[in-house]
Amino acid sequence: GPSGGPFSRHGIGRGRLPFSVVSGEDLAAFERIVPGRVITDPEVLEASNVDWLRMVRGSSVLLLRPRTTEEVSHILRHCHERNLAVNPQGGNTGMVGGSVPVFDEVILSTALMNQVISFHDMSDGPVCPCGCGAPSEAQASVQTLPAQRPQWPQWVLADGMVLNCLSTLRKDNTGYDLKQLFIGSEGTLGVITAVSILCPPKPRAVSVAFLGSLCWKMLGEIVSFLVCSLLWGNQSRLWGQSPFYVLIETSGSRAGHDAEKLNDFLEQVLSSGLVTDGTVATDHLKVKALWALRERISEALSRDGYVYKYDLSLPTERLYDLVTDLRVRLGPRAKHVVGYGHLGDGNLHLNVTSEAFSPSVLGTLEPYVYEWTAEQRGSVSAEHGLGFKKRGVLGYSKPPEALRLMQQLKALLDPKGILNPYKTLPAQA
Ligand code: MLT
Ligand code: ZN
Repeated sequence: GPSGGPFSRHGIGRGRLPFSVVSGEDLAAFERIVPGRVITDPEVLEASNVDWLRMVRGSSVLLLRPRTTEEVSHILRHCHERNLAVNPQGGNTGMVGGSVPVFDEVILSTALMNQVISFHDMSDGPVCPCGCGAPSEAQASVQTLPAQRPQWPQWVLADGMVLNCLSTLRKDNTGYDLKQLFIGSEGTLGVITAVSILCPPKPRAVSVAFLGSLCWKMLGEIVSFLVCSLLWGNQSRLWGQSPFYVLIETSGSRAGHDAEKLNDFLEQVLSSGLVTDGTVATDHLKVKALWALRERISEALSRDGYVYKYDLSLPTERLYDLVTDLRVRLGPRAKHVVGYGHLGDGNLHLNVTSEAFSPSVLGTLEPYVYEWTAEQRGSVSAEHGLGFKKRGVLGYSKPPEALRLMQQLKALLDPKGILNPYKTLPAQA
């Protein structure tokens, strides 16, 4: 519908797999496992059935909100026995429709698993269950940087078996590195219920520079000076006259020393003509305001109309080529063709907007964007995963042998295929 986007199942090209349907007896069993946290109210379910971009929608009739690993285990054991499909859901902030059901999968939400279990000294890190908003809630209680390296997870397999590998060791080379298997698995191999995260101490001095440039290649040169998180794009007139902008954050322990280094760098780029416009902030509020310009781009785009989203890894020197190329190919059929992302990582978020969904725009974009990316030996999903929307394009970035091995691993760990069906791997013939 107009408010909620198209139902996922209309785009799936095949029907619901033969899973069981939730019965009154199932509801009673779940009520015993997670008393008071068995939700069937359609109004409450709405927020879990639709993704935050409001582009995909499922029709689940049941949301479960466990608090502990043991509860997750009991839920999965029941679902496995009964052949009920399960859609594990975290913050529901995904970009590829992986976090919402496609049909009537039972939604298993980790939202209530939001306590920091333990916090060790600086050499270790906090152990967080999955509901800790990635790990900013943990961060609120400890003085650390966000988004640090996850180490070992604890997870529950499809049949309810708990695999506890939680550890805060920095080095552990005993056997296969199983946690790597879970990174990128998007809830199709098990439900991660806790992770331990290594957090370096919070930097005492943070500076943010927001710089305009006439040429994005020049920004590439700037970034080779500093490795950081970046932005460029030309969609906002608010920002000034430059066609490209870059956001650079530096952090360190001595404000005076850091400011001196940053100022040297800025003098150099200004005098070289690489940068035509810019501002620097160390004040917490101004830093936040500058980051908001970057962080709210996706939200701004979703208000521009229908959005075709691509998340590509490309060689840095070709990073912007698709943007200029597609502006020509799409002409007035597109409202905006925008490129932004993480320049230091070679990660382009290519977003195209049109007034409404148009098969002709889609036909120009796909498979062209994927084929072009594959020719560059790039990735068709740099950081967003495959979920529901991109499951069919895995083959552009991985050879058939790798796909086959992934299917075999899925069959081994989830033989009934109950975990996040219709996601991540291409549909099997
Ligand atoms: C970002 O970098 O803003 C996110 O990955 C989301 C997006 O694609 O816009
Ligand atoms: Zn991103």
